[in-house]
Amino acid sequence: MTRPELVIKGRVLMGNEAQTICIGIVDGKITVMGKDLDGDEFLDYSKYLIMPGGIDIHTHMRDPGFTDKEDFNTGTMAAAFGGTTTILDMPNTKPMVTTTQQLKDKLDIIEKKANVDYGLYASLTPDSNIKELKELAVGFKLFMAETTSAIPISEDEIRDVLVDPELDGQVVSVHAESPERFRDIEVTDLTTHDDSRPASAEVVAVDTITQMKTSAIMHFAHLTDLMSFEKAFGYSNEITPHHMLLSTSNVHGTKGKVNPPLRNIREQASLFTAFVKAQVGIVASDHAPHTVGEKILPFGEAPSGLPGVETRLPMMLALVQSEQVSLGLVQATCCHNPAKLFSLPKGQIDVGFDADLSIFDMNKTTKIEGDKLHSKCGWTPFEGYNAIFPEHVFLGGEEIISDGELVRKGKGKKI
Ligand code: NCD
Ligand code: ZN
Repeated sequence: MTRPELVIKGRVLMGNEAQTICIGIVDGKITVMGKDLDGDEFLDYSKYLIMPGGIDIHTHMRDPGFTDKEDFNTGTMAAAFGGTTTILDMPNTKPMVTTTQQLKDKLDIIEKKANVDYGLYASLTPDSNIKELKELAVGFKLFMAETTSAIPISEDEIRDVLVDPELDGQVVSVHAESPERFRDIEVTDLTTHDDSRPASAEVVAVDTITQMKTSAIMHFAHLTDLMSFEKAFGYSNEITPHHMLLSTSNVHGTKGKVNPPLRNIREQASLFTAFVKAQVGIVASDHAPHTVGEKILPFGEAPSGLPGVETRLPMMLALVQSEQVSLGLVQATCCHNPAKLFSLPKGQIDVGFDADLSIFDMNKTTKIEGDKLHSKCGWTPFEGYNAIFPEHVFLGGEEIISDGELVRKGKGKKI
């Protein structure tokens, strides 16, 4: 067997227990694991927890077209500083990614800016050339309702497009809100925003999609209601940290304005409980930054969306440290299940998997400060929340974050 180029020693979750173990790496892959290993280089992080690099399947990196909010360099830098080594980027950039040419152009633009591995979604429309798009896209995004810079398609169009046999085995991520259930009311704060796009609109949308015929793998993005999770039983589902931790009463103003809306504190608490009880498949950030200038507009005019790629995994680990959730659950929802959905050789510390590793000192809980984060937007709705940020991050066996510094830039590759 080839001698490892690099051996990293640290605490790794094996079954239900963290054990001190050596991880041997050759050519960016984990090739051997054992109690004692020798390699060309040896790093001893015995006191630290080693996790698989996080995988965030729902981000809006804004490049091209909205680079005043974020660009692929800053967005993937934020991911890396949060221990996330793979991100999937949504298609509502400018132009919207609907054609193969638009997808190719976007890939060219972002290629050299990527600090973590990435995949791009294409928007699913009635005219999509699915056969061509699926060669380059990681999956498809389906917008059922109007939201920031996205064009929704109608229920009839969705029904038609979902039966296309070219979608067989492809992941379709659904923004499930039925616009027929929206209420035309004046939106002046988080509660009226919630009332205008109520949870019932989501429940109806999930119900509608589950009754459609398709051979695609349907994935429900950012669900906000327990009934939606029930309706989506047997399908892939996702929850965001903000819907689990924030409500219309613990965050105020446009910093909490997002689609689907934050719900009231009771509903939020029930979502958190569902997460703790392992009823949720994937935690994704829906990282959707807007500038401070846009967010200080009057509530009704300010765009929906909030940043979260850097804080997702660190906040989850703080919850592990305070014994509110298990490490196994965090690894499953932030690393393993996302990789499984997209059949990626990632999200697991085991022989044959990519050596994407995030290394944490679990005794270093800090408070989140918006101006210390790396997103271009410069703010967070999670100001003051507990988090544990990684000390070291490895992408394909190469260290990209070391002691709080980005030491290697532009190492991200298309998955
Ligand atoms: C997203 C954005 O700003 O791109 N906003 C949001 O509120 N989540 C769009 C979206 O996914 O709805
Ligand atoms: Zn989104």
